[in-house]
Amino acid sequence: MAKHVKGNVDWVGFVDWELQKFHGDDYSILNGSSQNSYLIREGKNVLIDTVWTPHKEEFIENLKKEIDLKDIDCIVLNHSECDHSGSLPALMKEIPDTPIYCTETAKKFVEGQYGKQGWNFHTVKTGDTLDIGNGKQLAFVEMKMLHWPDSMATFLTGDHILFSNDAFGQHFAVEELFNDKANRCLLNKEAMKYFANILNPFAPILKRKLVEIDKMNLPIEMIAPSHGAIWRENPMQIVAKYAKWADVIWSL
Ligand SMILES: [Fe+2]
Ligand SMILES: [Fe+2]
Repeated sequence: MAKHVKGNVDWVGFVDWELQKFHGDDYSILNGSSQNSYLIREGKNVLIDTVWTPHKEEFIENLKKEIDLKDIDCIVLNHSECDHSGSLPALMKEIPDTPIYCTETAKKFVEGQYGKQGWNFHTVKTGDTLDIGNGKQLAFVEMKMLHWPDSMATFLTGDHILFSNDAFGQHFAVEELFNDKANRCLLNKEAMKYFANILNPFAPILKRKLVEIDKMNLPIEMIAPSHGAIWRENPMQIVAKYAKWADVIWSL
């Protein structure tokens, strides 16, 4: 079931109540998780990320209830790991010519995982933009090593949403989608656990990236990660927390 996010943006992901571990046995999941995918319907219809392979059929079935797949003008793939690209092969069988926007490294990793399928890749770098009509653009921000070499974030102008992919996420199932609807104590705990497990090894890179994003002066009003709750209320709180946690851990 799609859920409204903001403006013409809907969540079309998968809430995973049954997930118990992540990255093999490394990461225990105690409060569920989600793989967040987003559908933007402006002059162009854009799908941001997909969901993990085991849920591909349900994902595509639900997506079809929202939009005729042929009306999807392009896909943005912020990260190639299978929890976000896992439904791509099945989706591309239905709409094989659809442009896929991703980093050069993500293209290589996707082709490494699924083979060279002749998909219509458009590789992007920080500063590249894509006009999606109605006066809105997508602006791409490379997030190299946050947490993979291919990671990127995508900013939607007009609605001022940062689709941050794995950065700022949590393995935390929040049926009502937003941080202001979630149990705050659990949200904070899960965001910190996620930082410690996924981002902490790259804390010095993260600190430099936070400075870079700050200098870009993006008027961020919402941070929509690829796992867990969307930061709607005071979204910059998680950016401030990341800066603090990165400092604490590396000063030990
Ligand atoms: Fe990832
Ligand atoms: Fe992920």
